[in-house]
Amino acid sequence: MSDLEIPDMPQPVSHNANGAQVFAFMGAVGGAGVTSLSIQTALSTQKLLRTRGVKDPEVCIIDLDFDCGSVLSHLDLPARLTHAHLRSGAATIDAALTSALAVRHASDIHVLAAAPRLSGNDEVDPSSVLSMMDAASTIYDALILDVPRMWRPWTHAAIAAADKFGLITEMTIPSLAAARARSEAITDQQNNVQAELILNRYERRAMKSNLSAKDATRAFGRAPVATICPDAQSLHDAMNCGQPVGCVHADSRYVKDVDALTAMWLGLKSEDNKSKPRRWRRRAA
Ligand SMILES: Nc1ncnc2c1ncn2[C@@H]1O[C@H](COP(=O)(O)OP(=O)(O)O)[C@@H](O)[C@H]1O
Ligand SMILES: [Mg+2]
Repeated sequence: MSDLEIPDMPQPVSHNANGAQVFAFMGAVGGAGVTSLSIQTALSTQKLLRTRGVKDPEVCIIDLDFDCGSVLSHLDLPARLTHAHLRSGAATIDAALTSALAVRHASDIHVLAAAPRLSGNDEVDPSSVLSMMDAASTIYDALILDVPRMWRPWTHAAIAAADKFGLITEMTIPSLAAARARSEAITDQQNNVQAELILNRYERRAMKSNLSAKDATRAFGRAPVATICPDAQSLHDAMNCGQPVGCVHADSRYVKDVDALTAMWLGLKSEDNKSKPRRWRRRAA
C-alpha cells in the first residue's frame, strides 16, 4: 500500500464516551521528533491535568507503529503487548486486557506498545488495534498517539478520533512541502480533520540564512500552532536515561515549549493565545 492510499473508512474510536483527551502526532518526514514529543507531551499532560485538579491523572502513550515504533526503547521499557494480541481479533481485546498490557513507567506514564517487528504493520489485525484503542480510551484520562506516516486503518482512525492532531515538521522546504501535501491529502479524505503544524527544532533567533516562521507559514499555507526549540543535549540525556525530558531536565526550553503546546491543547490558554502563541507573534512581527 502506498503512503497516501486511503483504505475504507474505519469506525473511529469512541474516546468521547468518557471524555478522554486524545492527542495524535505524526511526522511530515522521518525523524521529525514525533516519539520524543509524544513522550514529553504525555508527561506534560499528566502534570497539567494534576494542576487542573484531576487526582492521579492516568495518561497513556500508544505506539501505533508495529514495524519500528520506538516509544519502548526511548523509555527503556519491556513490551507486554505482543503481536499475537494484535492478531487475536477485536472480540478478545477488552479494557481489562488492555490495562494489563500497558506498561507503567517510573514517571507514572503508561505505554501500550509492542516490540518492533519487521512487517508488523502488515501482520496485525486492524480491528484488534482499533479495539485496543477503543478500550484504552475508556481507561485513561488522556491518550497520546504516536502515529506512523504509513496509512493503515488504525492510523486513519487515530487521526479521525483525536481531539488534536499535530503534524510535526522541521524547518526545511522539503519537510514543509511534505507537511502541506500530507495535510491536504488528509483533509481531502476526512474533511473534519485539520492538522495543526508544529515546527520542531525551531530556533527563534535564527540565522539570516535559516527559514523563518513566516517562510513556514507561506510554505504550509497556515501558521504553525507551536514551535519547539532545538535542544539536542536534553533529548540526548533523556533518551540515554530512559526518561521523558521533563524527568531529567525539568527546566529546559524543550520542556517549556512542550508545556505551552499541551496547555494550549488542553484549553488552559485564552482563545487569542490558542491561535497565536506568544512566541510566534513575537517572531513573526
Ligand atoms: N527539538 C529537538 N531538538 C534536538 N533534537 C531533537 C529534537 N526533537 C527530536 N530530536 C532528536 O531527533 C531524533 C529523532 O527523534 P524521534 O523523536 O525519535 O523522531 P521520530 O519519532 O519522528 O522518528 C532523536 O535523536 C531525538 O533526540
Ligand atoms: Mg518515532
